[in-house]
Amino acid sequence: MQGFHLKNGSFYCESVELEELAKEFGTPLYIYSEEVLKNNCQQFLNSFSAYPTKICYAVKANYNLSILKKIFQFGMGADVVSIGELERAIKSGVSLDKVVFSGVGKTKEELDRAISLGIASLNVESSFELELIKQISEQKKQNISVALRINPNIDVKTNPYIATGLYETKFGIPDEDLESVAEIVKGHRFVQFEGLACHIGSQIMELKSFELAAKRLVDLAYRMKERGFPIRRIDLGGGLGISYQQGQIAPSIRNYAESILKVFRDTPFELVLEPGRSVVGAAGVLLTTILGTKKHKNRHFTIVDAAMNDLIRPCLYEAYHEIVPVKAKAAPEVITDVVGPVCETGDFLGLSRTLASPSSGELLFIKNAGAYGTTMSSNYNARPRCAEVLVSGNEVTVIRRRESVAELWHHEI
Ligand code: LLP
Repeated sequence: MQGFHLKNGSFYCESVELEELAKEFGTPLYIYSEEVLKNNCQQFLNSFSAYPTKICYAVKANYNLSILKKIFQFGMGADVVSIGELERAIKSGVSLDKVVFSGVGKTKEELDRAISLGIASLNVESSFELELIKQISEQKKQNISVALRINPNIDVKTNPYIATGLYETKFGIPDEDLESVAEIVKGHRFVQFEGLACHIGSQIMELKSFELAAKRLVDLAYRMKERGFPIRRIDLGGGLGISYQQGQIAPSIRNYAESILKVFRDTPFELVLEPGRSVVGAAGVLLTTILGTKKHKNRHFTIVDAAMNDLIRPCLYEAYHEIVPVKAKAAPEVITDVVGPVCETGDFLGLSRTLASPSSGELLFIKNAGAYGTTMSSNYNARPRCAEVLVSGNEVTVIRRRESVAELWHHEI
């Protein structure tokens, strides 16, 4: 697979030189490789093909319509958490029997729409939500399949802001409350409680945690079946990590599948997964131009035209993204902080990085920016959002045009 690679001293996305993309579309620019995207989707679909599994891509990771359309064409479904994500998925051609709706607080409008459409599952996180679903389904006289999201109290090693499986977090229903919540819809005419769900966190690098969650849910599903609840589906959420740093090894999708399937084998439960980052993370980079460099005593800064509003992960989670010069050059190295133009000390893309004499006008790219890059971007400091391009072989498609300055106040009165 080619993806992003170095050829004759210059980086390419598939058959297109990143430098050419900068010339044509300007920077900052998000660039995606269709090949990487397709490969990740196929790995998911193939690795689980021997077991009844729905792979519902977590739309929040990247919801550009063209990216979604590709992902759904490859055969994935969607995990959505808002009406906006639901409508994006529908507009991009998702098949409704592969849509699950997660989220800790859904509005009446969102539930109404999901029930009218008859999506595959509403993943419910509280008794108040289940009561509301009951009311709406009765008013509409429409069936809806629900799963209850369990908070399994599993401590995963990841950034605390993206760990979701502990009682201290707002997510899910503690397992000991499961039965009393389920009683709300036991034997209900329209609400079919037939699934259990969980999502223990994101950027998880240990397969043990997924295996533990799978075992907990399978045990719980059997227990609920014994008590007369017709459970037939288990949704394990997303969370598989990717390698952001050289030397950091992420589990492969195939090994992830093996560790889950060994728990599910010989059970009667359909499996649902909601991967986000592991589908799109490595498929995208953020291309940026160096505006200039400066030195403060013993601190060196490389100021680039991308900023925290374009990619907030470094600033929000102290997340590490590799930063690579588009053109390799032999020059003395400096230790430098790669920072954006936004007026915040936290506006950095990478701290204490080693770069060969960075200088004004040179291009850098930030790797693994395909997930939670554009979807978490903002207009802070009144900076227009980036353009996005999708590369397939030597074909380049603009999948989001650069926002204009006038569009910044488009909705204001
Ligand atoms: N399902 C549910 C219910 C979720 O809440 C999430 C992510 C996923 C699936 C997808 O997880 P993934 O496979 O991408 O790990 N903004 C953070 C990540 C937050 C994840 C929130 N939920 C980041 O940039 O690292």
